[in-house]
Amino acid sequence: GAPQDLAGRSVVVSAGGTREPLDPVRFLGNRSSGKQGYAVARVAAARGAVVRLVSANADLPAPDGVQVTPVETALELQQAMTEAAAGADVVVMAAAVADFRPAVYQDAKIKKSHEPGAEQAPVVELVRNPDILAGLVRDRGEGDRPVIVGFAAETGDATGDVLSLARAKLARKGCDLLVANEVGRSLAFGQDENTVHLLRPDREEARTVGPADKEVVAAALWDEVVNLLATPPTP
Ligand code: C5P
Repeated sequence: GAPQDLAGRSVVVSAGGTREPLDPVRFLGNRSSGKQGYAVARVAAARGAVVRLVSANADLPAPDGVQVTPVETALELQQAMTEAAAGADVVVMAAAVADFRPAVYQDAKIKKSHEPGAEQAPVVELVRNPDILAGLVRDRGEGDRPVIVGFAAETGDATGDVLSLARAKLARKGCDLLVANEVGRSLAFGQDENTVHLLRPDREEARTVGPADKEVVAAALWDEVVNLLATPPTP
């Protein structure tokens, strides 16, 4: 069986992708399947952790022994994560959170006009959602618990390669471990295999895993977290 190196640890994992409603029948969403986050939760439970999975719209069965809290929107995800993070040893933000939501929710279905000559389409105004991960880091203050893990989907662009973009994101978010996904050329969404780079602020070199099964990626993530939990904070 799996090593019980997370026995007695309380961990919270977010997974899936948020949906931001426009009206009762429509939403803005994303392609996250939730597979990677569910694998992270499943592997933690197999290694002995008490696991809470905050699941945003993932169409996947609850992993064995994992308590699932379903959410829909970024604001619901923020509330569930903030509550669950209090007293947790580890928080993993694997969910794809919408950066924006519609500024207004129409409580009746938005209709097209049938007037002759009324070709106008509505303009949807968006507002920023909070950065949940950055907020969890902020709430932790000067303490070193929970250990906080972020994910980043990077394609590499004119401003830099995947690793340097991920290094900058790690610094900006202030988390303890960043799992950077290579996406774009081959989409990781919905796939079972993934190539990731594991970055820590206290380590110059990234550790690359894959292309590998999402379970293997999850195991590598927990190896890093076990190491971080055993490392005394730098004064
Ligand atoms: O900035 P970016 O969206 O690339 O960062 C990805 C990481 O930040 C993921 O861990 C994701 O769960 C988290 N995130 C968040 N709140 C947002 C956007 C992203 O917690 N509004």
